[in-house]
Amino acid sequence: MDQIKTLRCASDKSISHRSAIFSSIASGKTTIKNYLFAQDTLNTLEAFKKLGVDIDIDKTKVTIKGTGKYLKESFDIINLGNSGTGIRLISAVCAGQSFLSILTGDNSLRNRPMKRIIEPLTQMGATILSRKNFLAPLAIFGKDKLKGINYASKIASAQVKSAVLIAGLYTDENVEFSEPQVSRNHTEIMLKQFGVDIISENNKVFLGKHRKLTGGFELNVPADISSCAFFMVMCALKPNCEAVFADCLINPTRTGILKVFSDMGVNYEIINKKTMCGEEVADILVKYSPNLKPFYIDGKILPTLIDEIPILSILALFANGKSILKDAKELRVKESDRIKSIVENLKKLGVKVEEFEDGFEIEPTKNIQKAYIETYFDHRITMSFSVLKALGYNLELSETKSPTTSYPNFFEHLKYLGS
Ligand code: S3P
Repeated sequence: MDQIKTLRCASDKSISHRSAIFSSIASGKTTIKNYLFAQDTLNTLEAFKKLGVDIDIDKTKVTIKGTGKYLKESFDIINLGNSGTGIRLISAVCAGQSFLSILTGDNSLRNRPMKRIIEPLTQMGATILSRKNFLAPLAIFGKDKLKGINYASKIASAQVKSAVLIAGLYTDENVEFSEPQVSRNHTEIMLKQFGVDIISENNKVFLGKHRKLTGGFELNVPADISSCAFFMVMCALKPNCEAVFADCLINPTRTGILKVFSDMGVNYEIINKKTMCGEEVADILVKYSPNLKPFYIDGKILPTLIDEIPILSILALFANGKSILKDAKELRVKESDRIKSIVENLKKLGVKVEEFEDGFEIEPTKNIQKAYIETYFDHRITMSFSVLKALGYNLELSETKSPTTSYPNFFEHLKYLGS
C-alpha cells in the first residue's frame, strides 16, 4: 500500500485579497501568514502600495502597516490584472477617498461587467466613469463621506456585497444589503475580526455603528477549497491516488462541492477540524471513487461552488449518467465565458454535451478523444483540463501559464500527485 500523500494546496484567494484590503485600511501593523503569492493577490498588494500603504513582503509573510481608512492618491493607474475581486473591492475603497483613482485590468477583466458595483457605489455618492457598457478602465472620484444604502442585489455575488460593505465603512448612515442566495461571507467574517459591527441574517447583511478597523494582529490564511478541488477530483478518478488536503477551508458558503461529492459518491472524509482566520478549516482525505453518479446542480447551491464548475465538468465525464447544470448564467461573465469554454472543449473530446443559456448537460463517455484544448487564458479551465491530461488522455493545451493567477505551483502539485 502506497503511503497517503499530504498536499497543502494554494492559499485561499478570496481571504488573501480581503486580508490585504482590510489590513491596509485598518490601524496598526497586521501580519498575514500563508498569504497567496499568486498574480491576482500580488496585484492587490501592489494596488495598496500605490495608494500609499507600507507593505513588506517576505517569503513567509506579508506585513502591512495600515493607514486607517484614508489612503494617498496614486501617482499612476492601478492595474488589477485578471482579478474581478481585486477591481470590484478596491473600487469600493476608492469610492471612500477624496481623490481620483483609475482602475484597470487585463483583456479579460476589461470585458467583465462592472455595472453591478458602479450602480451601488454611485448611489452611495461616488462618481464613476467607465468605458461604454460600464466596462473598465474605471475612473473613480471618491468622497470621504459617502451616503447610506439599502441595496437589493439581483445576483448572489460576494463581490457586490463586499463592495457595498466596504463603501459602507465610509458613512455613518444605514447600510443594508440583500441578495437572492447567500454568497461567500469572508468579508463579514474578517470585518468582525477587525472590530467592525456587522450583522448577518440569512441573505441580508447590515453594518452596525462601529465601522473603524483595528488591526495589529496576525492572520493565517487557510488553503483554498477551490484550488484543492482540482486535486480532489484527481484523487477520486485515479486508482491509488489517496491524499489528505491539509488546512482546507470548509466555510459552508464555499463547500457546495463537498455536497456534490457526497451526492456523486466521491469517497472523502473530513478529519481534524480547526479554525484559521476566524474560518472553519479541516484536513480532508479523498480516495479513489470508481462508482460515480451524475450531478444535478441548480439554484441555491450555486454560489457555494461557482468556481468549481469547470473541474466538476471533468468529473461528470466518468459518472454513470448525464450530469446537468442549470441557473448558472453567472459563469458566462467569469474569467472566460465558462459555459462556452467547457462545452466547446468537451465537444472536441468527442463528448455529447448540450449547451443551455444558463448551463449544460454532459453525457459521460468511455472514449475520450485526442484534442487541442483552448483555455481562453482562464486559469480554472487550464487547471481542469490539465487534470484530465494527467489522467492519461492525449490533450494539448493552448497555454499553461494562466494558473499563476491563483495557483502558481499547480503543475508541481500535479506532478507530485501523479507520481
Ligand atoms: C469571489 C466571489 C465570486 C467568485 C470569485 C471570488 C470573491 O464571484 O467567483 O472567484 O472573492 O468575492 P462573485 O462574487 O462575482 O460571484
